[in-house]
Amino acid sequence: MNASSSLATAPSCQNSEQPIFMNEFNKGEFIHLKKVCKSYGELKVMDNFDLSMRNDDRLVIIGPSGSGKSSLLRVLMGLEGIQSGEINFQKNDYIIGDKSKNAKILDKNIQKKIGMVFQHYTLFPHLSILSNLILAPVKVHNIPKREATEKARALLARFGLESKLHAWPSQLSGGQKQRVAIARALMLEPELMLFDEVTSALDPEMVTEVQNVMMQLANQKMAMIIVTHDMHFARNIASRVVFCANGKIVEQGNPEMLFTRPRETRTREFLEKVLHLD
Ligand SMILES: Nc1ncnc2c1ncn2[C@@H]1O[C@H](COP(=O)(O)OP(=O)(O)O)[C@@H](O)[C@H]1O
Ligand SMILES: [Mg+2]
Repeated sequence: MNASSSLATAPSCQNSEQPIFMNEFNKGEFIHLKKVCKSYGELKVMDNFDLSMRNDDRLVIIGPSGSGKSSLLRVLMGLEGIQSGEINFQKNDYIIGDKSKNAKILDKNIQKKIGMVFQHYTLFPHLSILSNLILAPVKVHNIPKREATEKARALLARFGLESKLHAWPSQLSGGQKQRVAIARALMLEPELMLFDEVTSALDPEMVTEVQNVMMQLANQKMAMIIVTHDMHFARNIASRVVFCANGKIVEQGNPEMLFTRPRETRTREFLEKVLHLD
């Protein structure tokens, strides 16, 4: 990526820290956040988030540590509440802000359509890879064991892990565990996948194998929201990029624009820092 040289001469826009909402992205709306606010006590981590994505978008969220990226994903997954604003999913009400309860999921069926993979592998160490994959489908969703096993086998084969079906998590490398975690999230056929820095804890040589799996999903038009610090990967996989800082959406746009011609000073400063560090 030759972004740093272009970034040095990119025009700056000093006048606003306001979120930029781009109407053109409203077409074919899949998820829509309207004025979403979330705080932890006094700390605002989502300050009036207005954001929408289409079902063929790969939305990549970038920004400094502590800017609210993980909070956004946890909110979408229904793991955390919001104090105000609302979130629609395929034009249906999904989550609504609630000051007193601090969590208000209106439709649990929508929550089931979303899968998430975290930075640290969350496989159950005492269960085989197969059992890790079929546990929730069989126990929670009443899918017949044989059917779930076939699906697990097919997914693992797709990710080059068929031989690990009966292995234990401790016998797998970090990259393999993360690919299994992705396969496990796909078992329930989500319509949206959330990835929170899934390669950050990996040794460098394992990063590509996990990113390749994510690329494979992207090529199959899976709707994805990806938080990553890997700007090269971000640029490759994103259909749109959102830059967050201090709990605000500072800027969003297509990757070409955001990485080479960011409008906001804050975005440019961040990119210069991370690209120079690379
Ligand atoms: N459960 C929590 N309770 C209190 N503060 C939290 C909690 N989770 C996150 N925070 C704080 O909120 C801010 C945003 O966190 P997070 O969404 O994890 O940011 P990011 O993923 O961009 O690094 C950070 O300052 C973090 O310390
Ligand atoms: Mg985070």
